[in-house]
Amino acid sequence: MTSADALLAELEPTAAQLLERHLSSTKEWFPHELVPWSQGRDFEPDYEWSADEVELSDEVRSALFVNLLTEDNLPYYFRTIERMFGTDSAWGAWARRWTAEEGRHSIVIRDYLTVTRAVDPVQLERARMAQVECGEVPEPETPLDGFAYVALQELATRISHHNTGKLLEDKAGYEVMKKVASDENRHHLFYRDLVTAALEVDPSGAVIAIERQVRTFEMPGTGILEFEAHAKAIAKAGIYDFALHHDQILVPVVLRHWGVESLDGLTSEAEQARDALVKRIGRIGKAGRRFAARRDEAEALAAV
Ligand SMILES: [Fe+2]
Ligand SMILES: [Fe+2]
Repeated sequence: MTSADALLAELEPTAAQLLERHLSSTKEWFPHELVPWSQGRDFEPDYEWSADEVELSDEVRSALFVNLLTEDNLPYYFRTIERMFGTDSAWGAWARRWTAEEGRHSIVIRDYLTVTRAVDPVQLERARMAQVECGEVPEPETPLDGFAYVALQELATRISHHNTGKLLEDKAGYEVMKKVASDENRHHLFYRDLVTAALEVDPSGAVIAIERQVRTFEMPGTGILEFEAHAKAIAKAGIYDFALHHDQILVPVVLRHWGVESLDGLTSEAEQARDALVKRIGRIGKAGRRFAARRDEAEALAAV
């Protein structure tokens, strides 16, 4: 048995409990009930989308585009998750449930966008094909890395969906994004608490994995066409940026909830990782404030 297998076996009862908590706190919901179908109409064969279809800033359109393409690709993470966790027991049950829920997210967001014409359906479909065909899926080194990455990523996705929804004038759009964000929160809680349990079983291994994942963190949309430009637009709209990443993820989860600064009994390698992690979080916070200040200045200038 490898150390990864031993860790998964030891954490399996926790995974079972967290799966149970997830299922009992989830209320069944249906994409078709949230989509404003009466706004829809047929697309003519020579239809060409124009931004005049819906009054919406380019930034919010970028966020909708990236959020949906991210959701489209998530079910393919199943390959990595199943390889890492295995098909049996609570691990397999969780991986399948999670995959089904992520699929529901792309269904509801796509239906909403198609009906409202908020984004170009041709561009969206081409980008979906490109995204899924390129097969970009994270490959964490160990299960601990996987737990830490997904704990951060699910919260990041939740924040991004929720902030996008808040910028939509349309009530139906707001409700769609809110519903998806609330699922992401439950996914985050599953992984966040799994990391908490892992910190008890193997604190040194867990801290090293957390440090590695914070250092290399990338949003799951990085395989998307022109992702950099979209990410800039998303930051400009205040939907997701370094400052949010620091204030709403790294500080409350890594520092406060996991309490990495007050862990005892670490190996010297883990001590070093913890030091590097805490320093990095401080630097990300500073960079976030600097970027936000620069953005504010540029906006003020543009307004003048
Ligand atoms: Fe999702
Ligand atoms: Fe999720």
